[in-house]
Amino acid sequence: GPRPLVDGFQRRITYLRLSVTDRCDLRCAYCMPERMTFLPKKDVLSLEELYQLSSGFIARGVTKIRITGGEPLVRRDIGDLFAMLGRRLGDGLEELTLTTNGTQLAAHADALARAGVARVNVSLDTLDRARFAALTRRDSLAQVLEGIAAARAAGIRVKLNAVALKGVNEDELPDLIAWGHAQGHDVTLIEVMPLGDVEEERLDQYLPLDAVRSRLSRRWTLTDSAHSTGGPSTYVDIAETGGRLGFITPHTSNFCAGCNRLRVTATGQLYPCLGGGEQVDLRSALRSDTPEASLAAALDEALRIKPEKHHFRMQERGAAPALARHMSMTGG
Ligand code: GTP
Ligand code: 5AD
Ligand code: SF4
Repeated sequence: GPRPLVDGFQRRITYLRLSVTDRCDLRCAYCMPERMTFLPKKDVLSLEELYQLSSGFIARGVTKIRITGGEPLVRRDIGDLFAMLGRRLGDGLEELTLTTNGTQLAAHADALARAGVARVNVSLDTLDRARFAALTRRDSLAQVLEGIAAARAAGIRVKLNAVALKGVNEDELPDLIAWGHAQGHDVTLIEVMPLGDVEEERLDQYLPLDAVRSRLSRRWTLTDSAHSTGGPSTYVDIAETGGRLGFITPHTSNFCAGCNRLRVTATGQLYPCLGGGEQVDLRSALRSDTPEASLAAALDEALRIKPEKHHFRMQERGAAPALARHMSMTGG
């Protein structure tokens, strides 16, 4: 049968992050500028192509697919993709999930649950309406909270993602964690990464999580957790809140040795690493005369070039970002 996906560092790839659009209805200040240039819609893969691509990965041993964006739920036909991929659960696929900003989640929650989505990751950096509006440049906190509640009501587990930002939500992180845990959600804190041009200085936003963690450990009892989602997060359990807290720390601690994932953009460009490097064009493989063979060859090429680790580092003040591409392109 088809060979499993193993890269040059003996890492087994079982997790695909598939972006279905680079568009978004928010404008998070650490992610994109207000005036963002999006990909022409004609370059974006069709639903059938996204499904065909996913099937190719499942055939090679991928068991977890996370749909990402931009904001995946702004894509009009997205419900159909979840329904199609949901039918593969138990047939090679073990987990179908998504990362969303939550603004449209209320309208989609029931259909997602019906498709077999058991967990969603929702980005939420603050619970303060004015801060949310300033940070995302849109006054949408109420919709996001409604979306989170709707997901829970539909029986979907929610993990909250908060990018830790100096002087923005730094003072609020304990409240955000306590609120999330009281609602029964896991919470993950993320270090800001230097991807794509934004209007603000990323160095001014950057908050190292080792310092946050030691501050939190003076307030609460943190114990290392064995829990893992197969993602880059390392988890602790908090005795007082009864909840789980994850840390994604590309700067203060590298997690690349356990990397199990590949990422594909909405136009079918495969990025072996979030941290940059070469990419592989899966769209032309899909559109060739021999799509299956071409796709298999393209995946072999991706395994061959997947780098050992990312080399993120915060640039000097005023310097260009380490990577020109925005996070919204590869979905993180
Ligand atoms: P689960 O562990 O399955 O809950 O998901 P996740 O935390 O891996 O994914 P999510 O989409 O919630 O992303 C959270 C953050 O992790 C985002 O900021 C992503 O950019 C970041 N992330 C995911 N994979 C990688 C990776 O391979 N390298 C780096 N540096 N960051 C990653
Ligand atoms: N650095 C770190 N995290 C980012 N995200 C978006 N841009 C960045 C960045 N430059 C986060 C979002 C979302 C996840 C997919 O990535 O907040 O939770
Ligand atoms: Fe949109 Fe997510 Fe980027 Fe915010 S971080 S602008 S929600 S893609």
